[in-house]
Amino acid sequence: MVVQAALQRHLDFSNQAPAYTMWQILEPEREGVRQRLARMFGCETEEIALTRNASEGLQICQFGFDLAAGDEVLTTNQDYPRMITTWQQRERRDGIKLRQFSLPVPCEDPDLIVSLFEKNVTPKTKLILMCHMINLTGQILPVKQIVAMARRRNLPVIVDGAHALAHFDFTHADLECDYYAASLHKWLCAPHGTGMLYVRRDKIKNLWPMMAAPAALDGDIRKFEEIGTHPAANYLAIADALTFHQGIGAQRKEARLIFLRDRWARRLLQHERVRLNTSLRPGFACGLANVQIQGVESKALALHLWNQHRILVIAIKHAEFEGLRVSPSVYTTLEEIDRFAEAIERVIKHGLPKT
Ligand SMILES: Cc1ncc(COP(=O)(O)O)c(C=O)c1O
Repeated sequence: MVVQAALQRHLDFSNQAPAYTMWQILEPEREGVRQRLARMFGCETEEIALTRNASEGLQICQFGFDLAAGDEVLTTNQDYPRMITTWQQRERRDGIKLRQFSLPVPCEDPDLIVSLFEKNVTPKTKLILMCHMINLTGQILPVKQIVAMARRRNLPVIVDGAHALAHFDFTHADLECDYYAASLHKWLCAPHGTGMLYVRRDKIKNLWPMMAAPAALDGDIRKFEEIGTHPAANYLAIADALTFHQGIGAQRKEARLIFLRDRWARRLLQHERVRLNTSLRPGFACGLANVQIQGVESKALALHLWNQHRILVIAIKHAEFEGLRVSPSVYTTLEEIDRFAEAIERVIKHGLPKT
């Protein structure tokens, strides 16, 4: 509500005389948002670009490195489909090779994850793309250790933080990565069409922007924002989302999300047919978790929950696992969590209603 009101306010003002109100008054105010995001992430202001979403930030990185035919890029088979599509387009266009590997689900061994990345590096590997949090299961990956392993081999790591930022409490010091892109419309609850890209200061110069920028901006983080006319309102309303998020406090938000997850997950785990595709151990996941009821098709179950109970969960079907992705937020009530658990228990006991 607070964010939508801010968005509307900025949009109304913006449209009064855009050449003046949008470009001259509102646009420069983005700098305050940049400063606040940098302070939250724990980096320099000059290392944060405002983007339209995580996809844009990630694709700036995925397209921004020069790669030659035969070069390999490495990622898992649980990375986000659009980011995989991006590599596949580079395969068709540039003749590079995408290499993907499996991760255990769930995985509670950071060393194993690092060793899987390491094992799949070949002499041809030029880049690594990894998730901070996997969107399918909520699994958190050990970014800092993977970045350290890659740095020893001189390999850049692009970190996909779409689901991580403002979900659980961390700063750049916990990651030490050079490239990090996140959505702001997810867990920060900023307006749709907002994201951020972090690029370490000394890496900016050698990363191409997706839309052309003048050479004078080569070393300036703002070269990634040269996207033509764009609304100022979305970006400015990020400030209100930040105020809301910081009012709650990142640690308290994380604790609340874990409390909500544990409330339904631990209750359902008492049933034999429930398989959790997400670790409940500290540090391996947060509010988003994936649960499978063995013997019940996840897609049909998600449809049932929506049709009968107006409970919205996402059915996930991966080649190696399936389940429901359950992601309550800070506004989800305990009563809603219990209603979800009850609805699942009814299905465990009686099966899905015949249609
Ligand atoms: C892991 C992951 N990466 C990237 C994205 C793309 O994010 P956006 O919609 O902000 O472009 C998503 C979106 O759900 C995601 O879950």
